[in-house]
Amino acid sequence: MSEQNRLIIFDTTLRDGEQSPGASMNLAEKLEIAHALRELGVDVIEAGFPIASPGDFEAVQAIARQVHGPIICGLARCNADDIDRAWEALRDAERARIHVFLATSAIHREFKLRMAKEEIVRRAVDGVRRARDYCADVEFSPEDAARTELDFLAEVVERTIEAGATTINIPDTVGYAVPEQYAATIRYLKQNVRGIDRVVISVHCHNDLGLAVANSLAALREGARQVECTINGLGERAGNCALEEVVMAVRTRNDYFQLETRINTKRLCPTSRLVSHVTGISVQRNKAIVGQNAFAHEAGIHQDGLLKERRTYEIIRPEDVGLTQTELVLGKHSGRHALRERVRELGYHLNDEQFERVFEAFKVLADRKKVIYDADIEALAEAQIHAEPALWKLEGFTVSAGTGGFPMAAVCLRHPEGHKLQDAACGDGPVDAVFQTIERITGLDVKLKDYQVRSISGGEDAQGEARVEVEHQGRIFRGTAVSTDIIEASALAFLQAINRVVLRRQARLNPQTELVQG
Ligand code: KIV
Ligand code: ZN
Repeated sequence: MSEQNRLIIFDTTLRDGEQSPGASMNLAEKLEIAHALRELGVDVIEAGFPIASPGDFEAVQAIARQVHGPIICGLARCNADDIDRAWEALRDAERARIHVFLATSAIHREFKLRMAKEEIVRRAVDGVRRARDYCADVEFSPEDAARTELDFLAEVVERTIEAGATTINIPDTVGYAVPEQYAATIRYLKQNVRGIDRVVISVHCHNDLGLAVANSLAALREGARQVECTINGLGERAGNCALEEVVMAVRTRNDYFQLETRINTKRLCPTSRLVSHVTGISVQRNKAIVGQNAFAHEAGIHQDGLLKERRTYEIIRPEDVGLTQTELVLGKHSGRHALRERVRELGYHLNDEQFERVFEAFKVLADRKKVIYDADIEALAEAQIHAEPALWKLEGFTVSAGTGGFPMAAVCLRHPEGHKLQDAACGDGPVDAVFQTIERITGLDVKLKDYQVRSISGGEDAQGEARVEVEHQGRIFRGTAVSTDIIEASALAFLQAINRVVLRRQARLNPQTELVQG
């Protein structure tokens, strides 16, 4: 692969992706995702914005120290404190990058920054120079570049290259661009900026008009060689360019793009599942590449064509993106070693203590369920990733439901201080009754915003996954849990969301505590 044809994949799931409402992750979750991104083969991991919070700093530092292979990048505004803090977090990385940004568009200059053009150029140059004093790899982003006057954009880019930037990123911060125009911006910069051939041109597109992937691809045709993207297209508002889509577009249409990435595409679906599990944000069924329906053919004519020759209706083989047939992998008599191997093959990095808990849960599950699929093992492994302190715990519950009666639930919880509390309530249905009882016991009033249940593997004894989204004081908190009993899964998911509300409250009382989901 020649350098000319190499496309650098810059993943910002842990930074821009985490800016999705309710998608914040704790340290253990970020580390697990960073390891998964390394295995996926991304070139750069933007691990966070170190000055934003102590939790962000700690996560960038931990990833810089523990995740080897990709470049680890930290974001900073163009000021000394941000850049110094970013470097402090990144300094132990095998390969580090500081990413500095400053808005350049007229609307940002006038209303947000209240700065004249000269001031913007001066600060951008100073920021890049300061970052270069620490680190040889510096990326500069003129925020809202897609709405910036082209001549001014070119001036800022030229001056930051002179100051030492090694990658120039052109963000479409508000998802305003359309493909031809965005591509023309890249062309203009290539034609009008001295020194542009010395740096990598990067693209960073938001999806407000549903054009993030299309805009990114159009820019690649003009010579951009780094694409900034997130797993499942997670990100602010409508999200960022979806990694799995841009990667599979250049791979499937290699005849057109003639670009290569280092992505192990077989890790796309498992990584997507992991990110969805950790953030609690479901992937829409018809989402390209990683959606549940992405490879489902319904029409008879299509099914007939596929049976005769797959390529009639299939441009990507499901196995190439890691979509395996649900397999029976292990059973009641499988040992520790076989389970450990399978967990590793599925891409999880559990320590001994976490693995022992998975093994215990596996034995309990094997008693309840005849066959255990990969999806079951993934659910057991994922339940260990959160590593949040256990606060309220479910001790037990009973529900009564049926037509013509009053659905009721009795629930027993263990208080964070150790004693048990129980109560009962009626509801619109058994799940509602359980949720109401949990609210009564914990004394926390939350508003249920979303509730979903799905089967995670095949068969009549399949496990159900419940996802719950609640709102408390204007913030979103999510919970996910799996069980062969969907009411139990629902109660556990609801309790996880409640525990996150409690953790958030504790963190606010003690700002040194790491913030978790919410
Ligand atoms: O969208 C944006 O402009 C950003 C920058 C910080 C690169 O995320
Ligand atoms: Zn962004």
